[in-house]
Amino acid sequence: MTAGGERYSALRWNAPLSEAHAEWLIEQLEVGSVNSVLDLGCGWGELLLRVVEAARDGCAGVGVDTDEALLARARRSSRGRGMERQVSFVGAPAEEWGRPAERVLCVGASHAWGGTAPALVALTRLVAPGGRMLFGDGCWENEPTPEAGAIFGADVMPLDQVVDRALKAGWRVLSLTTADQREWDEFESSWRRDGEDWLLNHPQAPDAGAVRQELDRRLAEYVTSYRGVLGFCYLVLGRGG
Ligand SMILES: C[S@@+](CC[C@H](N)C(=O)[O-])C[C@H]1O[C@@H](n2cnc3c(N)ncnc32)[C@H](O)[C@@H]1O
Repeated sequence: MTAGGERYSALRWNAPLSEAHAEWLIEQLEVGSVNSVLDLGCGWGELLLRVVEAARDGCAGVGVDTDEALLARARRSSRGRGMERQVSFVGAPAEEWGRPAERVLCVGASHAWGGTAPALVALTRLVAPGGRMLFGDGCWENEPTPEAGAIFGADVMPLDQVVDRALKAGWRVLSLTTADQREWDEFESSWRRDGEDWLLNHPQAPDAGAVRQELDRRLAEYVTSYRGVLGFCYLVLGRGG
């Protein structure tokens, strides 16, 4: 939502993920003695900053994204926490990034490599031997409705196939969790929230009709086509040393 205010301002991160679930995932990454963290498709970098905060002093983080406005928010956030020397944010296509790290985050960005399956293969090159990756991605929680299939495309796989592709790419699956319904509902509500607030305050603005239509479309698609159908899985994957 772009009218008024900052896009996604009500979202903690751009994924269906609670604070408690994020903390648990960071624990699974075991970052205590880690020197490098890379986040591909980092958005505004909130998860990356938290992972680097949990790691040893001197751990360096790099976030990569193609959206300059989101990267500007990431840099502001990093400066606000005094982490600007520890974490850098780079505007670049994730699929062209070549420097590996000990811990890699890739949440909601598999489309940069063409979907879940090719991403799981390509990302093996970016995790240093003995390293770990948090891979978060959409998957079918239930048989997709034709509408959900049309919205999210043929790349989305059921969870068992995501796991199968991870194993075939050579990963060990250290943990597997999925977003629950509450995380999804909070995510969808927060996704619309800045637009809804703007609309309540600017009902007569020239673009109010277009904003209302876009918000109503998203809400209708959620409740009729993909709520309880599109899932989101978090795999913490290990790579042998
Ligand atoms: C669903 S969001 C997830 C953002 C972040 N990982 C998070 O969890 O908050 C996907 C992100 O991927 C970024 N993106 C899309 N295509 C990309 C590409 N080819 N290279 C790098 N980033 C990309 C978008 O700008 C967006 O920030």
